[in-house]
Amino acid sequence: MGKKIFSGVQPTGNLHLGNYLGAIKNFVDLNNDKDNKCIFCVVDLHAITVKQDPKELKNNIRETVATFIASGIDPKKSIIFNQSRVAAHAEGAWILGCVARMGWLNRMTQFKEKAGKDKEKASIGLYSYPVLMAADILLYDATHVPVGDDQKQHLELCRDIAQKFNNDFEAENFLQVPEPLIQKEFSRIMSLKDGSKKMSKSELSDLSRINLTDDKDQIINKIKKAKTDPLPMPRDLKELNERLEAKNLLGIYSSLTNSKLEISLKNFAGKNFSEFKEILTEELVNKIEPISNEIKKLLEDKSYLDEILLDGVEKANMIASKKIERIKEIIGF
Ligand code: TYM
Repeated sequence: MGKKIFSGVQPTGNLHLGNYLGAIKNFVDLNNDKDNKCIFCVVDLHAITVKQDPKELKNNIRETVATFIASGIDPKKSIIFNQSRVAAHAEGAWILGCVARMGWLNRMTQFKEKAGKDKEKASIGLYSYPVLMAADILLYDATHVPVGDDQKQHLELCRDIAQKFNNDFEAENFLQVPEPLIQKEFSRIMSLKDGSKKMSKSELSDLSRINLTDDKDQIINKIKKAKTDPLPMPRDLKELNERLEAKNLLGIYSSLTNSKLEISLKNFAGKNFSEFKEILTEELVNKIEPISNEIKKLLEDKSYLDEILLDGVEKANMIASKKIERIKEIIGF
């Protein structure tokens, strides 16, 4: 049986190799399986949980759509839309916010990381963001949600919310409890400057990540400057696990070439980093340069991107508005 897939990406600019290898690459494979029904959402409501420049946000929404398409998602087969245009997301988030418990949200590590030391100054949206994410998923009866490792806890919360709703309102199996689809290996791509930190859009140094809009020279330069250690490439798993930067780069290589980490480890064991970096750069350029070129080309035709979103909004609305009506009936509105 085919799967019902839902996933989202925030339009906050600088989509990077972590987003690609952790999530978007998986979206493309799921899109290519003809039995699946896929919905990919540009989560603009999530983006405004931290301050956004309105003009940039508008561009970033289009850029995220362009990235989906340039990476290989077919807008004729999968629904691509932006969250804010389907009212059921905000409505669902409110209702589910009355089901979710404070204690559950207080455990969310991403809020703690993003809010930092001064959590009194964080927006309420940033705190309740996982509830909105649950609404996104549950409105479409998604069976599977492909995400990177950092979203795992939010998905567990979504499952808890669905189960509590079904129990509280004696609506057995009404909200579909979704399964996460997280790759076993390389589900967390780390910064090129610090192997203990996640590769992220918000990291100040652009050298810490490969952006999906980087050109060949930028990719070459970033891999050249990527942090390593003075030793030759690790020889076994134990050594690999102790050397975070080496592990990250070898993980990126393995993910790009769809090979097992152990095999890549064997192939490069004891070699010089410079030799490995050259091969890694070649793989990265082969994969990312065409995506980057295609994104730039697509961004020249804004009306094409807007049409895709309009079409997606219409389709998503048909599904989500029915579900939210049922939710309202169930809770007695
Ligand atoms: P976002 O926009 O931060 O990231 C989009 C996707 O990229 C993955 N990702 C990574 N994977 C591996 N290594 C990294 N360094 C890395 N950085 C990001 C994320 O895990 C994610 O899959 N809350 C979500 C968006 C969202 C969503 C949803 C996802 C909103 N509603 C419903 C699934 C279902 C987020 O902020 O992703």
